[in-house]
Amino acid sequence: MSLLLTHGLNLLATLQESTGADKTFWFPEQASTIAESIEDVFYFIYWVSVISFVLVIGATVLFAWRYRSQEGKRAIKTSTHDNTLEVTWTLIPTALVAVMFWVGFKGFLDLRSAPENAYEVQVTGFQWAWAFTYPNGFESNELHVPADRPVRLLMTSTDVLHSLFIPAFRVKQDVVPGRYTSLWFEANRPGVFDLFCTEYCGTSHSGMITKTVVHEDQAAFEAWLTEASNVVDTLPPIEAGLYTYEKKGCTQCHLPTKEWKLAPGFGIVSEAIATGGSVEFEDGTAPLVPDENYLRESILNPNAKIRAGAAGQRMPAYQGRLKESEINGLIAWIKSLHAAQ
Ligand code: CUA
Repeated sequence: MSLLLTHGLNLLATLQESTGADKTFWFPEQASTIAESIEDVFYFIYWVSVISFVLVIGATVLFAWRYRSQEGKRAIKTSTHDNTLEVTWTLIPTALVAVMFWVGFKGFLDLRSAPENAYEVQVTGFQWAWAFTYPNGFESNELHVPADRPVRLLMTSTDVLHSLFIPAFRVKQDVVPGRYTSLWFEANRPGVFDLFCTEYCGTSHSGMITKTVVHEDQAAFEAWLTEASNVVDTLPPIEAGLYTYEKKGCTQCHLPTKEWKLAPGFGIVSEAIATGGSVEFEDGTAPLVPDENYLRESILNPNAKIRAGAAGQRMPAYQGRLKESEINGLIAWIKSLHAAQ
């Protein structure tokens, strides 16, 4: 018995060593710092179960065959009590279960307490997608994280119960409406890994699958975040223009129509561009037929030519305050206004 156990434990040790960071029969690849310890517990329980199964079923079959009824053999009385045997079959399973409890409990506590320097990402689950919000306010549908840095997900749901699961990290946590739950991990392998909902939440539950992108390091992650945050670059020019108009303060003075607010509405210049009409100026500059260059100059250096009727207003120069994509977007959007009037 003890020989068998020793043999079993040796076998267990060898098999554990052979489970590297790659995908195995039971597990996807390991991509976080805790993945290995989770597997250790799994394989411990797994091998205890396999060995117990073989011992119990083996003994059953062996005894059933050995003590089967045979002609000419008489049944003999079996013993009713054996202290050594009973103590053994009580102590060994108790020890095994105690080990399982200890490693499980310790792992549970580690998984509950995120390190202090953890990078926090807010997660919202809803029917049927995920939204990940980064500290700068940018929101994405895929989770992006840096490698080798603890990341804490602070999660809630806007409708029903969901559950966030990243198999390669071996982390999973319910996402509950009306309260916050959290989990943390430290990814240690750059790459792209599945992230999905693992709590049935309605028709498109299976559609709540997305990706976790682990960037090489903090710098690569920051670079991604900066680029992704530049929403304007990802929009078609006219939409980028409208977005810029609303976010950069233009609305304070300019309406998108032909009416004046503090300054002429963009509809006026839009019509002039479309129909070849001209614009007159306050300072005696000859009237001109506006075009893209005129719009650009008026945005970046508005005081170069002061429009007739706008003498009392001083528009701030936007030179250096707008990106090229924002300027191009504004021009495209202003030109498009005429068609909508
Ligand atoms: Cu959300 Cu299933």
